[in-house]
Amino acid sequence: MGEILYNGFTMRMRKKKWALPFIEAHRDLIIDLNENTSCLDETIDILEIGCGKGDFIVGYALKHPQSTCVAVEKDPNAIAVCGKKVVEACLSNVRLYCGDGKYLPNVIQSDTITTIFLNHSDPWPKKHHARRRLTHEDFARLYRTWLKPEGTVVQKTDNAHFFDYSLVSMSHHGFELAQVWVNYQIGDDNDDVPSEYEMKFRGLNQPIYRAIYQVVKP
Ligand SMILES: C[S@@+](CC[C@H](N)C(=O)[O-])C[C@H]1O[C@@H](n2cnc3c(N)ncnc32)[C@H](O)[C@@H]1O
Repeated sequence: MGEILYNGFTMRMRKKKWALPFIEAHRDLIIDLNENTSCLDETIDILEIGCGKGDFIVGYALKHPQSTCVAVEKDPNAIAVCGKKVVEACLSNVRLYCGDGKYLPNVIQSDTITTIFLNHSDPWPKKHHARRRLTHEDFARLYRTWLKPEGTVVQKTDNAHFFDYSLVSMSHHGFELAQVWVNYQIGDDNDDVPSEYEMKFRGLNQPIYRAIYQVVKP
């Protein structure tokens, strides 16, 4: 059973016997980032890193059928659940990568992405884990390379400390804060779609924080 420490409590992702066979059977949809994955030569409208079970990417792809959507997730059990939803919804505008987002530099070319979504990313509260945070300067540098000049990173989180950290980190590493919400409500942005974790934390009446960071290209 995979274990994720999130916001002080442990969330369990049950190991699914069917996950690896499902991934093997859908190699056209779910690409292994640990293998010698070839470079994407197309432009990408949206990239989600850490898509979990895929409620956001599937909802977004359904809502925006003209958009090319790519999602990355390191947990094979979660990406298999996501993949199943993509297949069931007959979506042809989604591609999934299984593996750590830090391997994406081999896959994504400069100036090819319009928007990067980070939904309820793991906050990694311990200092010695800071480099794993998806808004750490190492990731901000990658996002800056991949994004088109008008590109943005859109972050949602339930974690106020992680949000504060992200606002500072992104502002210090090549982004300007374009918009910020401290109690983001469904409907505040009609293009948006709730994620699984977002709905979980909304159910607990916790505020959702959201920021749009505009890339600053040299
Ligand atoms: C807390 S869950 C949120 C899932 C989903 N985004 C949502 O909002 O419902 C964070 C997910 O990000 C994945 N993740 C964390 N760091 C990652 C990385 N560097 N590359 C790929 N996936 C990552 C975890 O495996 C986990 O499934």
